[in-house]
Amino acid sequence: MQAQTPNDDRQTLVLTGASRGIGHATVKRFSAAGWRVITCSRHAFSDKCPWPMGPEDHIQVDLSDPENLGYAVQEIRKRLQPHGSRLNALVNNAGISPKGDGGARLDSLSTPMHTWRHVFQVNFFAPIMLGRGLFEELKAAEGSIVNVTSIAGSRVHPFAGTAYATSKAALASLTREMAADFGPHGVRVNAIAPGEIDTSILSPGTEKLVETIPMRRLGMPNEVAETIHFLCTSPSSYVTGGEIHINGGQHV
Ligand SMILES: NC(=O)c1ccc[n+]([C@@H]2O[C@H](COP(=O)([O-])OP(=O)(O)OC[C@H]3O[C@@H](n4cnc5c(N)ncnc54)[C@H](OP(=O)(O)O)[C@@H]3O)[C@@H](O)[C@H]2O)c1
Repeated sequence: MQAQTPNDDRQTLVLTGASRGIGHATVKRFSAAGWRVITCSRHAFSDKCPWPMGPEDHIQVDLSDPENLGYAVQEIRKRLQPHGSRLNALVNNAGISPKGDGGARLDSLSTPMHTWRHVFQVNFFAPIMLGRGLFEELKAAEGSIVNVTSIAGSRVHPFAGTAYATSKAALASLTREMAADFGPHGVRVNAIAPGEIDTSILSPGTEKLVETIPMRRLGMPNEVAETIHFLCTSPSSYVTGGEIHINGGQHV
């Protein structure tokens, strides 16, 4: 187990939604490159996690609860202190896409307002709360933020609901605003917009949709993780305010 020590000079990533899918692939990609990864999700740390980190690098937090998120930010800052209070990257990956009865799409007529607010708290407010809460640490390391948006943020999607789509559109706008505000402090802010990636968030029927995608296949979580890694490292040192589409040409 690689616990953090005062002499630890690894780069550090804070990643939300690390327990499954794209987040899981991202934690594996960054650990393989020698980063310390502080993971955040609702579940407690599991010994089954296939990377060399312990519970000291996991924060159990419910992003839908602003008070709980406030505590988590303080806890993350505390855990960064032995490392000179520096944070090299924040990846806002956790996201939810609720469905109606029987998996039905929740549109703008049918989405209950409490669902809409819940989705916005997790998908939109949590990223800005984390970005602002960890601003000093990101600034100290001239770090990078990546917000995970979606193809559904820029067009009506057959399965993703209205609350999800509008939260992702708002997150894309927020990425632009944050790039303008954080840039003068040396912090880059970008987004990635996945299309159909092979994770548990996909709906039944996606196989049919894939037939219309130019590359004729789903994307893999590790392909998304590679782009996130690119945006958090020096090969992208002059890239900020961007949104990279990872969708096999679905948007063309
Ligand atoms: N897969 C796709 O095709 C696709 C396409 C476009 C965009 N995206 C976006 O990519 C991101 C990752 O998607 P995915 O497919 O990998 O999703 P996923 O497999 O459903 O995983 C979602 C992650 O978010 C965490 N999470 C959910 N609610 C949370 C909460 N209230 N507090 C803390 N953590 C929470 C989950 O962890 P716990 O359950 O442990 O809390 C889990 O680790 C999302 O933002 C999604 O919108 C995915």
